[in-house]
Amino acid sequence: MDTPSLASTQKAAGYGSLPAGSRITLHTLREKKQRGEPIAMLTAYDYPSAKILAAAGVDLLLVGDSAATVLLGAPSTTAATFDFLLTLTAAVRRGAPDVFLMADMPFASYPDIPTAVATAARFIREAGADAVKFEMDLRHTEMTRALAAAGICTCAHVGLLPQRANLQGGYVAQGRTPAEAQRIAETATALANAGAHLLLLEAVPDEVTAAVKKTTDIPILGCGAGPSADGHVVVLHDMLGFFPRTPRFVERYGEVPAAIESAARQYVGAVRSHAYPAPHHQYHMKSPRPAE
Ligand code: KIV
Repeated sequence: MDTPSLASTQKAAGYGSLPAGSRITLHTLREKKQRGEPIAMLTAYDYPSAKILAAAGVDLLLVGDSAATVLLGAPSTTAATFDFLLTLTAAVRRGAPDVFLMADMPFASYPDIPTAVATAARFIREAGADAVKFEMDLRHTEMTRALAAAGICTCAHVGLLPQRANLQGGYVAQGRTPAEAQRIAETATALANAGAHLLLLEAVPDEVTAAVKKTTDIPILGCGAGPSADGHVVVLHDMLGFFPRTPRFVERYGEVPAAIESAARQYVGAVRSHAYPAPHHQYHMKSPRPAE
């Protein structure tokens, strides 16, 4: 069987025929940073939401392993598998062909450099991701170098690492003592120097972000990392009011569950009262052809 060309794979992913210049690229994000324009980033996990978020002007979408907790109700992000995230990434790409798309490396999917490169490449080749995010520490410096050498746009995620929450004392802010702050800032700087194209700092004081910013010019995306970050990301469903408890850095900008419940209640009521289906919802028999 012939191997599909990159162009046909990209077209199948839904972004092959875009007008030149309309896509948000790493270059666009760097320019935004240089101009001091904040980068708006959200998580996304499906085609219709991605379409809405793209229309709202989001610059960057992350198919996070938070899909495991948000979509599946799993207790931890470690439940997200590669195949699951690959499918979701392709769906988000189809919904948001122009947005910069980042996929999340799942838990324990990058035990060594060859596996990291091969797995990350699949997100790019098969799902149309622009970048791949790794939860990292100083032990990943060589891996970051190898990913850069392989041409993979890499986002190094440091600070609170949800895949290792049990090793970090739970889902708690990191870098709140001078020594810890320095350790996180040095880690981020080392990964940036090793070739990471983007940094994501999660749940750290603004002082950490400001310190990292002095040492690198790559865009810094903050998830609860203070106003010094060049861009900000939150989990979509947290922002939409799906969960009663959210991290302190989340602002609820919508109450979507109430809208869903209201529509569902109307539907249930209409079914029970026989108001649905109405005549205009029904298929009717075709009229018989006049006899010849
Ligand atoms: O998986 C995720 O959603 C994330 C963000 C919270 C940064 O990693």
